[in-house]
Amino acid sequence: MEFKIAVLAGDGIGPEIIEQAIKVLEAVGLKYNHKFHFTRALVGACAIDAVGNPFPDDTFDLCMNSDAVLFGAIGDPKYDNDPKAKVRPEQGLLAMRKKLGLYANIRPVTTFKSLIHKSPLRPDLVEGADFVVIRELTGGIYFGEKGRSEDLTKAFDTCTYTKDEVIRITKLGFEYAAKRNKRLTVVDKANVLATSRLWRETVQEMEPSYKDIAVDYMFVDNAAMQIIQWPKKFDVMVTENMFGDILSDEASVITGSLGLLPSASVGIHTSVFEPIHGSYPQAAGKDIANPVATILSAAMMLELALDLQDEAKAIRDATDKSLAEGVVTVDIAEGRSYKTSEVGDWISKNI
Ligand code: IPM
Ligand code: MN
Repeated sequence: MEFKIAVLAGDGIGPEIIEQAIKVLEAVGLKYNHKFHFTRALVGACAIDAVGNPFPDDTFDLCMNSDAVLFGAIGDPKYDNDPKAKVRPEQGLLAMRKKLGLYANIRPVTTFKSLIHKSPLRPDLVEGADFVVIRELTGGIYFGEKGRSEDLTKAFDTCTYTKDEVIRITKLGFEYAAKRNKRLTVVDKANVLATSRLWRETVQEMEPSYKDIAVDYMFVDNAAMQIIQWPKKFDVMVTENMFGDILSDEASVITGSLGLLPSASVGIHTSVFEPIHGSYPQAAGKDIANPVATILSAAMMLELALDLQDEAKAIRDATDKSLAEGVVTVDIAEGRSYKTSEVGDWISKNI
């Protein structure tokens, strides 16, 4: 079959890790007789530099006309300490989510046996942990009304959710739980926030339609604690945008393998697949960054957007093998380490 893939490499290590995912997809194409048409476009700081807009219209059009989007990373340190910058790379990411209607961010949290010792937690706590964080991605405080008083001494951000927004993301949470271990944890702050009470009320109304799913409700502060204490107790977690941002970073790091975890953002239009780590500017251009999270994001793309299940498994198997055999980048190497491009070559060859 033929597929159109929009490739938005972005900033920092984005271009070099994306190239490895492309190599791997080409190998899948050869083996399974598919043709992937890759078209590159700008997003983030590089798009600001080139055309003054972190998510240019051309990029949006390309995404809309593609079967899936493969995304690298965005961000540039020159913006981080400049709160007055008028345009920021991150606005490109938020615009992309909003314009493509990507209301759900799916982050599987899985452990890799060969890396358990890298976890900041005791191995017995984290070994076998396997859950999915489903984060609402186009609502809440990220997109609510915000502003600054005229004398600049006051600022505000508002958190808003509609019932329909809660229903569509929770529905996805129930569907994931149904395919997994049938447990759904709804994370909120219903003891304080009106939006959280709307979430709870709405999910309670949905519960009778999903009788085989056990739902529990957890305050976000408690959830932050329990992810560290008992990561194995979770199956599917669903939460609003800002809580999900924070908890999914926390959850990813307990596996000891931040450089390995992929994510998918799905919703109304074309889905986007990206590694959960950032643009790691210190490593840009050095051919040392770990490409595995991006390669596994390509596997998620095959699975969720293109419905190529065997092909996705082929990528996962070859990646597992590279980890088991120590063909890995310096961040996780025990002895000899390999370059970004060497890991990409090795995984492609093994497919
Ligand atoms: C993420 C990132 C973004 C977010 C930033 C870069 C705007 O942290 O994808 O989790 O906060 O959503
Ligand atoms: Mn984040």
